Amino acid sequence: MTAPATLGGSTRAESWSQVVARVARHREYGLGHRWLDLEVPRSFGRPVSGQFVQILLGAPAPVLLPRPMSVAAVRERGDRRVLGFLYGAVGAGTVALSQQAVGDQVEVLGPLGRGYPLEVPGTPVLVAGGRGVAPLLFAAEALKRAGRRCEFFFGARNKAALVGLEDAQRWLDRVGGRLHLATDDGSRGLRGTVVERLERAAGRLPPPLVIHACGPHAMLEAVGRWAMRRGWPSFLAMESVMACGTGVCRGCPMARSAEAKARYRARRGDSPSLLGNAEYAMCCTEGPVFRAEDLDWDKVD
Ligand SMILES: Cc1cc2nc3c(=O)[nH]c(=O)nc-3n(C[C@H](O)[C@H](O)[C@H](O)COP(=O)(O)OP(=O)(O)OC[C@H]3O[C@@H](n4cnc5c(N)ncnc54)[C@H](O)[C@@H]3O)c2cc1C
Ligand code: FES
Repeated sequence: MTAPATLGGSTRAESWSQVVARVARHREYGLGHRWLDLEVPRSFGRPVSGQFVQILLGAPAPVLLPRPMSVAAVRERGDRRVLGFLYGAVGAGTVALSQQAVGDQVEVLGPLGRGYPLEVPGTPVLVAGGRGVAPLLFAAEALKRAGRRCEFFFGARNKAALVGLEDAQRWLDRVGGRLHLATDDGSRGLRGTVVERLERAAGRLPPPLVIHACGPHAMLEAVGRWAMRRGWPSFLAMESVMACGTGVCRGCPMARSAEAKARYRARRGDSPSLLGNAEYAMCCTEGPVFRAEDLDWDKVD
C-alpha cells in the first residue's frame, strides 16, 4: 500500500508497506531495555531518523494491536534491510516482544510519520533523555553522511540511567559528534537537567542552534520552551498510544497551537484529513516529530 500524498512535509513523503520481518538479533541492553534487529525485504522503504514502525506480533499474542517503535538503526544486508530498535519491556505487548527469539517472525508496518528535518541549516543539537538516545544516534549518523557534526546532549536521573552510554560514546566518536552529559544527582556530567546543560553550552556554539530531541514528554516540553524563548527551531519526537499509525483511527491526537490551527485552516479549512483536523494533529502522521511552536504545551500529558 502507499501512504496518502498529504504526508509530504518538511522531511519527505514516503510510501509505507506491511511486511513479514524476521528477528535477526535480540539482546539485553541494560536497565530493562533490549536491542532488537528485524530483517525486512529491501522493498521496505528506508526509514529516516525520527520515523517509526508498527510491530504486530503473530497469533496467539496477548495484545490485539501493533506497538509503535522508533527506528534506531538501518543497515543493508544483501537483499535485506535490517532495522534496529531499542525498547523497554513495560507492558503486555513489549514483554511479549521481548520473548521473540532469533528466527521468529513479526509483522512490520512502515516507515511511518515524519522524521527530523536534519537539513535545517544551523548547528545540529541533539538532545536525548533515556531510551531517546537511540533514534538520535541514528540522526547523528545521518548528519555525518551529510558532512555535518552534531552536539549531543544526553540526560538522565543518574549515571546508571544513561541507557547505552558506552555505545553512545563509541558511536559519537565514529561520527564526530561531541557528547555533553547531565544527571540529576551529578553522578555523571553536569549535576542538573539536560536543559541546564544546554543553557551552559549554548553560548559557546555557533548560532543558530537547531534542536532535535527525543525523550520523556516533560523533558521535551522543557527543551521546546527553552528553544522557543531563544527563538531557535526545535523538533521534538512525541509519543501517543497508537492503533493504526496511519491517521485513520484518530487515536493519537495532539492539540495544535493557535499558530498551527490557523495554518491548518488556511490550507484545509475545517475539513479533517489524515493529518488530523484544525484543532488536533495526529501524532502518527503529522508527527511524531513536531516543531515546538506547533503544539499547545498546556495540553500535552
Ligand atoms: C512514535 C512512537 C515511537 C516509540 N518508540 C519507542 C521506542 O523506540 N522504544 C520504546 O521502548 N518504546 C517506544 N514507544 C513506546 C511504546 O510503543 C510503548 O511503550 C508500547 O506501546 C507499550 O506497549 P505495551 O503493550 O508493552 O504496554 P501497555 O500495556 O500498552 O502499557 C504499559 C505502560 O506503558 C505506557 N505506555 C503505553 N504506550 C505508551 C507510549 N506510547 N508512550 C508512553 N507510555 C506508554 C502505558 O500507559 C502503561 O503505563 C514509542 C511510541 C510511539 C508512539
Ligand atoms: S494511530 Fe491511528 S490515527 Fe494515529
